[in-house]
Amino acid sequence: MNLLQALQQTTVIPERYNKMTIQEMEERVRELKTRLGERLFIPGHHYQRDEVIQFADAVGDSFKLARISADNKKAEYIVFCGVHFMAETADILTAPDQKVILPDRKAGCSMADMADIHQTERAWNKLANWFGDTVLPLTYVNSTAEIKAFVGRNGGATVTSSNAHKILKWGFSQKERILFLPDQHLGRNTAYDLGVDLQQMALWDPLKDELIYDGDVNEIKVILWKGHCSVHENFTIHNVREVRNKYPNINIIVHPECRREVVEASDSSGSTNYIIQTIEKAAPGTSWAIGTEMNLVSRLMKQHPDKHIISLNPNFCPCMTMNRIDLPHLLWSLESIYKGDSVNFIKVPEQVAIEAKLALERMLALA
Ligand code: 13P
Ligand code: SF4
Repeated sequence: MNLLQALQQTTVIPERYNKMTIQEMEERVRELKTRLGERLFIPGHHYQRDEVIQFADAVGDSFKLARISADNKKAEYIVFCGVHFMAETADILTAPDQKVILPDRKAGCSMADMADIHQTERAWNKLANWFGDTVLPLTYVNSTAEIKAFVGRNGGATVTSSNAHKILKWGFSQKERILFLPDQHLGRNTAYDLGVDLQQMALWDPLKDELIYDGDVNEIKVILWKGHCSVHENFTIHNVREVRNKYPNINIIVHPECRREVVEASDSSGSTNYIIQTIEKAAPGTSWAIGTEMNLVSRLMKQHPDKHIISLNPNFCPCMTMNRIDLPHLLWSLESIYKGDSVNFIKVPEQVAIEAKLALERMLALA
């Protein structure tokens, strides 16, 4: 389901939550968590607000949360504090009687919306004309369930930022070429690390139905979907230069959803989990400029007062959709579960879920 479809099904939070104080809401969430006990499980992505993360039963990156959802056999209700594609993944990987709730159904992902199934089928047909059966589709988990299903039925797998190298390597053991959806930057940065020359990467423009490539198409190893993360694209080479001028000894670490030139100009790059672990292991007194989502960078600053940490972009980069999940929406979800009239369910249609699960399970088996 894309953001437009989610908006059409959205239920609006009742006015009473806007009148409650933070303390009242926190107390009520605590109480409801105790009352619901093991019937309830709250996974929270690292990019979520602190006001929500404090109540998460597990905090992680996309990969960890996908694994945790797959392993959770107990909870009747999974209140997913993250974005729409993560809740869909949880629904696909959990048992049919487990219910997944996204506290605000408008919490979509602009990157996931950059690849719709009709565009993808059109691209696939054109690619088959050029390359025959030599292309394997891989999709970042940051994609709709329909795209995961497309990838699943065509023999491919999902990837996350923490296993992209492993899965891409596997992809090349299956087929000569990879179609990588929907984030061109993660695809380009990962393929480059694996030794694929930039000249061997083409870009598929889904709006023009067009392959952007200057050269002999037989040389193409990777076809990158022209999608991006609107948060990570905000880190620029200009930010890198400014930070280096101001703090000559600083270490710059960025997420691989950043543009190639930003990754190249940084000292290191890696998944959300890699960034967290690097900062945890760093020596006191060291300086870090981080190129990733604002809530996580702010949390790392608070957790590591012995290190000098700044955002690579001085204007910070929040993910507006991650931020839609706030304390009032979390409370609303728990109260509605408790009253027995839950709202904001995420349910992937069965046939889509079966095929999407193939792609997710290939990833889970490989990573
Ligand atoms: P990871 O959790 O895989 O690092 O993904 C980052 C992201 O953009 C999630 O929306
Ligand atoms: Fe999507 Fe980027 Fe936000 Fe992640 S950070 S949910 S990829 S827009």
